[in-house]
Amino acid sequence: MANDSMTITDHRTDKSYEVPVECGTIRAMDLRKIKTSPDDFGLMTYDPAFMNTACCKSSITFIDGDKGILRYRGYDIDDLAENCTYLEVAYLLLCGELPTPEQQNKWVAEITHHTMLHESTKQFMDGFRYDAHPMGMLVSTLAALSTVYPEAKQVLDPEVRQRQIVRIIAKMATLAAYSYRHRLGQPYIYPDNDLSYSENFMNMLWRMTEPKYVASPVLARALDILFILHADHEQNCSSTTMRVVGSAQADPYLACAAAAAALSGPLHGGANEEVLCMLDEIGSAKNIPAYIKRVKQGEIKLMGFGHRVYKNYDPRATIIKQVADQVFEVTGRNQKIDIALELERIALEDDYFVQRKLYPNVDFYSGIIYQAMGFQPEMFTVLFAIPRAAGWLAQWKELMQDPDQKISRPRQIFTGRELRTVQRAGEHENAKNVGRILVHQ
Ligand code: CMC
Repeated sequence: MANDSMTITDHRTDKSYEVPVECGTIRAMDLRKIKTSPDDFGLMTYDPAFMNTACCKSSITFIDGDKGILRYRGYDIDDLAENCTYLEVAYLLLCGELPTPEQQNKWVAEITHHTMLHESTKQFMDGFRYDAHPMGMLVSTLAALSTVYPEAKQVLDPEVRQRQIVRIIAKMATLAAYSYRHRLGQPYIYPDNDLSYSENFMNMLWRMTEPKYVASPVLARALDILFILHADHEQNCSSTTMRVVGSAQADPYLACAAAAAALSGPLHGGANEEVLCMLDEIGSAKNIPAYIKRVKQGEIKLMGFGHRVYKNYDPRATIIKQVADQVFEVTGRNQKIDIALELERIALEDDYFVQRKLYPNVDFYSGIIYQAMGFQPEMFTVLFAIPRAAGWLAQWKELMQDPDQKISRPRQIFTGRELRTVQRAGEHENAKNVGRILVHQ
């Protein structure tokens, strides 16, 4: 018997099976041969919410949730946040290596030259209600880009794929900025190719009548760091959505729209918006103990706390706290940080949170920075989506190149009714008439 295998004994039949173990996993399909009879379908696993199922092999992002480690392509997240730009990190995620100076120049030039939206897309955005949620606008307009670039459906062509990757990373900032300006009723600002990715984003958000927008270098760098921190997080809910939709060979605009829709949920990227609502509701540090009591009674969740994978401090939250101090020097201190710090202190000393290993996650502090920069909470998840597009696309590219992958199609355990037939009134004496169709008791 091989060392890298395990033996499973099925006590229903007293038969034993040898199953290979690779990278700490067994292949679910190897269980199919475990049957009680020749016509038995074979053993399956039941794993709602994919708590213990690896759906792919990936070389993009590594997380050790117990140790609080996050790495993109082998680089620690704090190393990248300190030493790289967001576009370098996007390149790293997509291509596996940091760009050489020549590759970086070419990459930045490509992204910069694809930031414009087609005028019809701009008009499409005009059609939203004046108070449309920017995340709804982003999701819908991302999907609408599929109609502007019909070639995108050629997902098996690597060159076509690469063109859409460049377009999506370039246009995410423009879509985000336009959804922001739309809510304010302000005219859209065209991209400025002289500026860096973050500076140009700030230009499209905040330029008014001045001929040239000059971004605060501290805020531009802070945004760039926040983009790096949010760029990928392995098989999270939205990346998994990207992979599932991508596995059906839908085009990447539609797959990204689906991923962005997943991100909008309050248990995922939408948590940053919820954290601000929560801090507003708490109002002042003196109300924290009562709020924590409600959390412990199961009435509410402490938003921005807890994570499926991290059972330690989220390393991104540590970096965000440092960035917050730099941002506040420019914008003035957002008083909510004091409530957040006190909330964290009290929670981390409380048995409820200690026992469940609930720590602040990336969303706990990011919203406080965004608010200090002048964003409304509705915009926070859109800010998360801009860089996460790089992660979605890296996951999609890997999926499209992986010979192990096929269309995602899970199994179910059917718990419904056995075969029955439709009976009309009067056809069966035990039947009860419900409208025209009868239901058997
Ligand atoms: N507040 C209070 N209790 C919590 C929280 C929380 N934020 N998170 C988890 N718990 C409790 C949960 O009730 C459960 O307790 P018990 O064992 O008594 O039933 C235990 O901790 C385990 O939680 P779980 O729900 O089984 O964990 P999960 O892995 O299914 O959920 C999570 C992970 C992130 C959805 C969850 O922690 C949560 O809802 N957090 C608040 C929302 C949030 O901050 N989301 C952002 C996540 S990080 C960024 C991102 O993904 O976008």
